[in-house]
Amino acid sequence: MKIYPLSIKDLTITTPTVLAPMAGFSDLPFRKICRKFNCGLVISELISSEGIIREANASLEYLTSDLSEQPVGAQIFGTDAARMAEVAINIEKLNRFSLIDINAGCPVPKLMKKGAGASLMKNPENIGKIISAVSDAVDLPVTLKTRIGLKDGFPLINEVANAVESNGGKALTIHGRYAENHHKGNADWELIAKIKEQLNIPVIGNGGINCAQDAIDMLKHTKVDAVMIGRAAIGNPWIFQEIFCKLNNLSFIHPNNEQRREIIIYHLNELINKFKNSCRRKNKNSNTYEISACRKFRPQMIKYLSGYQGVHKLSAKLDRVNNLKDVIEGIDFVLQHKIIQ
Ligand SMILES: Cc1cc2nc3c(=O)[nH]c(=O)nc-3n(C[C@H](O)[C@H](O)[C@H](O)COP(=O)(O)O)c2cc1C
Repeated sequence: MKIYPLSIKDLTITTPTVLAPMAGFSDLPFRKICRKFNCGLVISELISSEGIIREANASLEYLTSDLSEQPVGAQIFGTDAARMAEVAINIEKLNRFSLIDINAGCPVPKLMKKGAGASLMKNPENIGKIISAVSDAVDLPVTLKTRIGLKDGFPLINEVANAVESNGGKALTIHGRYAENHHKGNADWELIAKIKEQLNIPVIGNGGINCAQDAIDMLKHTKVDAVMIGRAAIGNPWIFQEIFCKLNNLSFIHPNNEQRREIIIYHLNELINKFKNSCRRKNKNSNTYEISACRKFRPQMIKYLSGYQGVHKLSAKLDRVNNLKDVIEGIDFVLQHKIIQ
């Protein structure tokens, strides 16, 4: 298998957009679609370091990837520098990933209680140890994704950014919100701009991008090297193509119903394949992978069809359907109806 080593500096040369790691969404099928639409880099959902060490099925599942999505980063969470370095070595051996990203921004209590995710921000010294140990252990670039702080009005990003840069981190992603605010409120682009100005390593800005023009505005106002997009890409992977067109003075045409249908069905089929392969790997004789995939797809599908009449009825119906054919019929029915203005 060919490796595509990623110089993070090149990110700005290809296309300065990154698909955000999003648990439950940024799986292989969705990442592949975003790459098709010119997203510069995609990052996996967060993966437990301890899970990989235990070889837990769920954690290993997140490490599935294929050549068509490269460059792709693997995001891991944990607290112990030595154990995270061990995990990074195992990930590098897979020859599939282009970088290792450390999660220092997730605010969910399950991680916070263990001192992982956003909790790491309380201890920049430990962040430094993790970056240093992981960077020493692997050749892949090591990056970190964090927030501007934990409690609203009390930024910690300065100390975190210094710990990352001075210990060999190759890039820093800043989600411009405080952990206690989760995904609500405005992202602080001023603070992102300030940190960008202070650092020598590339900075990826995140938060507050709801449409392609917002991405262009963030690039312009904060001077970040790339923008990371999460929720605005769910159901709209075309956003990456639109940004690419805007940056290159090309005209962008929004997808028509047929093109939208093509991507929705492709996405769903990829998800079905993913579930099927997963059953095979676990030697599980399951015939339910098709329906499991259809159900998992529901939140994505609502976003793909948002604004079309009948989408909520279709969503409710998904609880009862048990084959792909019925789902496709439902999608076709919704696509025939006008967009609600
Ligand atoms: C459903 C969901 C799951 C997420 N999972 C992760 C994750 O696994 N790792 C991570 O670093 N951030 C995660 N995030 C945060 C996003 O990466 C991103 O920082 C956040 O959504 C803000 O960007 P946006 O406004 O473009 O959505 C998640 C966000 C959402 C909405």
